[in-house]
Amino acid sequence: KGGKDQLIIDAGQKHFGMTICKSCGMIYTASNPEDEMQHLQHHHRFLEGIKYVGWKRERVVAQFWDGKIVLVLPQDPSYAIKKVEDVQELVDLELGFHQVVPTCPNKTKTFLFIDEKKVVGCLIAEPIKQAFRVLSEPSAGKECSRAWQCSDVPEPAVCGISRIWVFRLKRRKRIARRLVDTVRNCFMFGCFLSTNEIAFSDPTPDGKLFATKYCNT
Ligand code: ACO
Ligand code: ZN
Repeated sequence: KGGKDQLIIDAGQKHFGMTICKSCGMIYTASNPEDEMQHLQHHHRFLEGIKYVGWKRERVVAQFWDGKIVLVLPQDPSYAIKKVEDVQELVDLELGFHQVVPTCPNKTKTFLFIDEKKVVGCLIAEPIKQAFRVLSEPSAGKECSRAWQCSDVPEPAVCGISRIWVFRLKRRKRIARRLVDTVRNCFMFGCFLSTNEIAFSDPTPDGKLFATKYCNT
């Protein structure tokens, strides 16, 4: 067997066997035992992490026909904090963030979008004083897709969105949009923040597409 032929065959099989799990959303190759094993590990951990049993004193800040948004504050009972930590861990894993320490953990506000008994969306917001506007797309061929060019002139801002995430199988249903609307409404008592007063920190390509669309409509 020539090396080249083998490569082509492998690539073909990979493409052919691609599966998306209907419960956890992971895309993997079902015909590859190693991939399958990885999926099983992820599957269990993920579904445990997003499982939401409901709390006696949950703070519901918005309600919709397909779910509700629950706000968790740093002084909340430990079971609520634990759930937020578990979800954040899954989100960080997916985003490739490592050990991001919040600047002011006692002022962090976490918004969870709950659909039935699952956390399908999460937004972590913290107070900020200034933000730097994103100026342009990264130049083609740049290795790091997060290297957007930023202005070096700080602009005043109020609320920093350090994480926004929606479960893969629930994307493009306006869950992120409703999370941001709710943050603008709830972050500061008695006022609705303008899009200029919120800032997305270190956005991913997905995050930037969403933020651009959100802020222009
Ligand atoms: N590509 C193009 N446009 C998009 C995308 C996308 N991937 N995602 C959202 N938009 C735009 C669309 O115009 C959309 O409206 P439409 O569906 O009517 O066309 C509009 O934004 C609103 O989108 P929502 O449905 O509210 O967004 P969704 O609930 O799918 O969540 C999110 C968007 C959070 C970015 C999701 O894709 C996700 O979790 N991605 C992986 C995690 C991630 O990268 N998060 C951002 C990290 S940056 C940070 O945390 C600061
Ligand atoms: Zn799965």
